[in-house]
Amino acid sequence: MPDELLRLDGVRKYFGVRGAPWREGKAVRAVDGVDFVVRKGETVGLVGESGSGKSTLARVATRLLDPTAGTVAIGGADVTKVRGRKLRPVRRKIQLVFQDPQASLNPRQSVGTILTTPFRAQGVRPTRAQLVDLLRQVGLSGEHLERYPHEFSGGQRQRIGIARALSVQPELLICDEPVSALDVSVQAQVLNLLADLRDELGLSYVLVAHDLAVVRQVASRVAVMYLGTIVEEGPAAEVYSAPAHPYTKALLSAVPVPEPGAERDRIVLSGDVPTPIDPPSGCPFRTRCYKAEDVCATKRPVLEPVEGSTEHRAACYFPETPTL
Ligand SMILES: Nc1ncnc2c1ncn2[C@@H]1O[C@H](COP(=O)(O)OP(=O)(O)OP(=O)(O)O)[C@@H](O)[C@H]1O
Ligand code: SF4
Ligand SMILES: [Mg+2]
Repeated sequence: MPDELLRLDGVRKYFGVRGAPWREGKAVRAVDGVDFVVRKGETVGLVGESGSGKSTLARVATRLLDPTAGTVAIGGADVTKVRGRKLRPVRRKIQLVFQDPQASLNPRQSVGTILTTPFRAQGVRPTRAQLVDLLRQVGLSGEHLERYPHEFSGGQRQRIGIARALSVQPELLICDEPVSALDVSVQAQVLNLLADLRDELGLSYVLVAHDLAVVRQVASRVAVMYLGTIVEEGPAAEVYSAPAHPYTKALLSAVPVPEPGAERDRIVLSGDVPTPIDPPSGCPFRTRCYKAEDVCATKRPVLEPVEGSTEHRAACYFPETPTL
């Protein structure tokens, strides 16, 4: 399909467990069978608790990590096995903005050098005017080129991270928790910047967040991850107004209701997220689910369309039905 910027089919990423003999042969199932598509013009919110596999999925999708199984297609081309210099065209189409701008910018490099790196990876030498343009796009200016990361605030550093990702004029930006390390007051500014860039440059996004509230304003579609799998996905309006998976419902019930007087029954999730080394049999959410029955332990439920919708899907034997 020409409009498909990214397609993941059956992607798994397992990490070996080292240094613990009793865990020999065990693996961390960080991503455990994910199908995921991003089309041109979409802003997809990828949401889940810490450890659910969001960053790993982002790294596999941008080919920074090889998948253990499954395929990665970018712009319609299968790039699962593409390596080295042949990855250049891939890197031009899809870029990753990292979770922690402090850690992802080399403190010993000036902003000019940082912005030059992706050009060089493409075998291109940028002009100063190109670098100044990039800074302007993210609300900074040419005088910042000679400065170093520590001279900037957290929000400005994330702007530099975004400028670096924009340098090769990608079509899709995968932003891994772009605002989670920032003060609340700065978060909205950076999210607004991303929205402005989307309108100006026709960008598409995957916005990773651990909180459904963060992506509410900007996402056109939402995918919810739990223990390495996507348990629900669909148009944002449908997922927020009528969550079908008990996990999504529980996450949303913890988000404060904006309208005064409005109430929502709060579902408190009991226990911790199980370890991805030994995930539960059947449905990965069953150890914390308020609706679990015996069948939930038998076989993992697959994503299936929610009643009355074609785009909204949930992986649950007993999904919530929309209340009319
Ligand atoms: N290189 C690695 N080696 C071993 N285990 C890893 C590695 N990278 C990630 N993991 C494990 O894989 C699981 C998923 O991690 P990941 O960082 O993808 O989650 P996340 O959803 O991005 O979490 P967070 O919200 O905390 O950023 C975790 O259990 C993590 O400890
Ligand atoms: S399949 Fe069962 S355990 Fe899993 S979310 Fe649905 S009801 Fe809960
Ligand atoms: Mg992460």
